[in-house]
Order: sequence, then structure tokens, then C-alpha cells
Amino acid sequence: MTQPVKITVTGAAGNIAYSLLWRIAAGDVYGKDTPVDLALLEIPAAVGKAQGVAMELNDSALPLVNSITVTDDVREAFENTSAAFLVGARPRSKGMERADLLEANGAIFTTQGKAINDYAARDVRVLVVGNPANTNALIAANNAPDLDDSQFNALMRLDHNRTLSQLALKTGKSTTDFTKVAVWGNHSASQFPDITFSNAEVDQEWYREEMIPKVAKRGAEIIEVRGSSSAASAASAAVDHMHDWIHGTQDWRTAAVPSDGSYGVDKGLICGFPTICRDGKWEIVQGLELNEFQKERIEASVAELREEREAVADLL
Ligand SMILES: NC(=O)c1ccc[n+]([C@@H]2O[C@H](COP(=O)([O-])OP(=O)(O)OC[C@H]3O[C@@H](n4cnc5c(N)ncnc54)[C@H](O)[C@@H]3O)[C@@H](O)[C@H]2O)c1
Repeated sequence: MTQPVKITVTGAAGNIAYSLLWRIAAGDVYGKDTPVDLALLEIPAAVGKAQGVAMELNDSALPLVNSITVTDDVREAFENTSAAFLVGARPRSKGMERADLLEANGAIFTTQGKAINDYAARDVRVLVVGNPANTNALIAANNAPDLDDSQFNALMRLDHNRTLSQLALKTGKSTTDFTKVAVWGNHSASQFPDITFSNAEVDQEWYREEMIPKVAKRGAEIIEVRGSSSAASAASAAVDHMHDWIHGTQDWRTAAVPSDGSYGVDKGLICGFPTICRDGKWEIVQGLELNEFQKERIEASVAELREEREAVADLL
């Protein structure tokens, strides 16, 4: 057994956390030989519910759980943390404009970015799940000047996994059979699931006309069919992302990381790219020759990321 590692989950009383915490506690992020100190952050009104979640975690008698802290205090939640899953966010309420949503979430991610900057372990990894995830991650990163921007990612692994799943369902193969799949852009309907470089042999019309919109609008479809938004699949993708960030990858994965200016994406925008993780760092796959269709689709999603950045310019 190694030393315990502290992991913070915000929005701990919410739906995603209810799945995510058990996967973390089972050792699916750091490994089965690493005990975890769990820090559960909530808003004051939901701390009671988060305490109930902690009681259930205790009742699960999970061998890797070293301690559980429930708090509404950002310092206590982030102090010395090595991995932070920023799940808690303000949902869009009736009549709320996109700009209002960005603004409301901006306040949360400004505060949390500052606290992570001041109190977290210097090599902390921060994965933003709460929507609008890419721009929330941009705000958090910009409010943590002592840390490197590359320590802040947004979750687009769910979009990646949805792409693999659609390919598997279409071809009858396993999701693990497909290589070089990635989702570019924003975690929104403008995203571009890209199988151009993959080994998937599928009809191009199906890919462009059916698969791309299916994946891009999957979140809305889940809400329609299930009656509430994706939770277990989002938690599973968040675990996949953080696991691979720590342990590395051979093949491409989709991670929304700060752009280094590759492929015409403005430097600093937190954008979904084809990436490979080596030595604990995501590297954007370089040197890809993009066709016109790819360029158009990527540009459309990046344009949306620019608009979002514009809307929160005062928080950056
Ligand atoms: N990136 C992705 O792939 C992806 C996928 C699915 C959902 N999401 C997003 O994840 C977020 C959470 O989803 P959910 O289903 O768990 O929502 P939920 O409403 O069930 O839970 C959210 C929780 O966050 C808490 N919260 C709000 N502000 C907080 C703050 N400042 N600090 C700590 N906690 C806070 C709320 O009290 C609530 O308990 C949403 O924004 C959702 O849109 C992202």
C-alpha cells in the first residue's frame, strides 16, 4: 500500500457524484493499492445531503477509503488535494440566458480556481465536469496563476466514449477495437466527433448524417429518454479521464486541454483534441492533415468557444 492521496469532488450531493465517488473509492483512478482521502464539497444547503452520501460511503466498507471530509469550505476541500473533480455547477433555470449561465458559473469557478491556486498540491490535476465545462475550466485556470494551465482540463471523454459506443453498435465490434478516434471543440452540440483517422470502416453518409448528430446531441437524448441527465456515464468518463492522465495512454484519447495554438485553435482555449498522455501530461497529437470538412467542423465549434470566452472576459 502507498500513502493515501487526497481527492476532491465538488457537487458531492448531486447525481454524478453519487456514481463517481464509489468508482474513486474502489481505486479506479489511482489504482487498487492507493488509499484515498475523500473531500466532498457542497453548497451550505446541500451539505446535509452530502453527509448522507458520506454515511453510505462508510457503510460500503470500502478498503481503500482512509477518510471522508464533508464541507462547504473551499480551503478545507482543496487543501493539499492531488486530484479535483469539479462537478458542482449551477444548472440552467427557466428563462436563464446562456450569458447568465456563464456568469453564474463564472462566480463558482473563479472562487474554486483561486482556492486551488492557494491550497492544493502543486501538482494537482483539475478536471472540470460542470457545464459549460470548457469555459468553466478556462475561468478556473485563469484564476490560478501559480499553477500551470495544463493542470486544468475539461471533460470531453464522455463524447469520446459515446463515439466509440456508436461505432461498436454499428459494426458489432468492441469499443476497444477502434483506434485514433477523437472529439474536437466544445462539449456542446457544436462538437466534432472525428473518425477520419480511425480504423472504423463505416458508411460515410451514416457517419456524417447520423453518427455525428447522434453523438453531439446524446446528452439531450438521454434527458428525453431517462428523464434526467447523464450521470453514471459522465462519472465513468471522468474516471477514465483522470485515470489516463495519471497512468498514461498508448492510443488517442479525447481530452479538453488548453490549446497550444495547434490546428488554428486560439492558444489557451480549453478545447477537445486528439491527445496522448505521456509522463503525466497530455500531448496534442501533432501533424495531422485535415480535410475541408474537418477544418469547417472544428472551426465552428472553436468559434463557439471564442464566444463563450468573450462572455466571461471580465473573469479571466
Ligand atoms: N462534461 C460532461 O461530459 C458532463 C456530462 C454530464 C453532466 N455534466 C454537468 O455536470 C454537472 C453536474 O451534474 P449532476 O447531474 O451531478 O447535477 P446535480 O444538479 O445532480 O448536482 C450538482 C450539485 O452541485 C452542487 N453545487 C452547486 N454549486 C456548487 C458549488 N459552488 N460548490 C459545490 N457544489 C455545488 C449542487 O448543490 C448539487 O448538489 C452539471 O453542470 C451537468 O451539466 C457534464
